[in-house]
Amino acid sequence: YSEEDNADDYLFKIVLIGDSAVGKSNLLARFARDEFYPNSKSTIGVEFQTQKMDFDGKEVKAQIWDTAGQERFRAVTSAYYRGAVGALVVYDISRRQTFNVVTILVGNKSDLKEAREVTTAEGKALAEAQGLFFMETSALDSSNVTAAFETVVKEIY
Ligand code: GTP
Ligand code: MG
Repeated sequence: YSEEDNADDYLFKIVLIGDSAVGKSNLLARFARDEFYPNSKSTIGVEFQTQKMDFDGKEVKAQIWDTAGQERFRAVTSAYYRGAVGALVVYDISRRQTFNVVTILVGNKSDLKEAREVTTAEGKALAEAQGLFFMETSALDSSNVTAAFETVVKEIY
């Protein structure tokens, strides 16, 4: 047991998600280094930075993953969402097209009734608090799958 181990208990992986050029990398640069780049280059693939934060005297480390918004990197970036406990979904208030972000929280595997650990009410409450649509789905038995996608597409369309 050491300070190091202790700090590891509070390592949280956070991802920055959003269209290209909405300002993800600059949000991270401002947060982590208090820097801003007026002419920053598009992120290639994925970069991450660990930032110490202090909450009530407890040290928390946020490992912040900055992903490329450009479509051609989509296959690479999505692999880095794994293990994330939080996400900042970013859009650019000066470009409406970037505002079309995912707006549905999906509780999948609704077929696993015996193994349920999160109630439908909990899912609903979280979605409501965050202003998201909510649906429980099962890819196994198809329930609500089409409806979930339709909900999102209908919103964007
Ligand atoms: P990708 O890496 O391609 O996904 O882009 P990104 O989302 O990381 O955008 P980035 O941080 O590179 O910023 C894109 C452009 O927007 C740059 O020219 C930034 O200087 C500018 N920018 C970022 N944040 C802000 C902001 O809060 N205000 C203004 N006015 N410009 C910003
Ligand atoms: Mg970037």
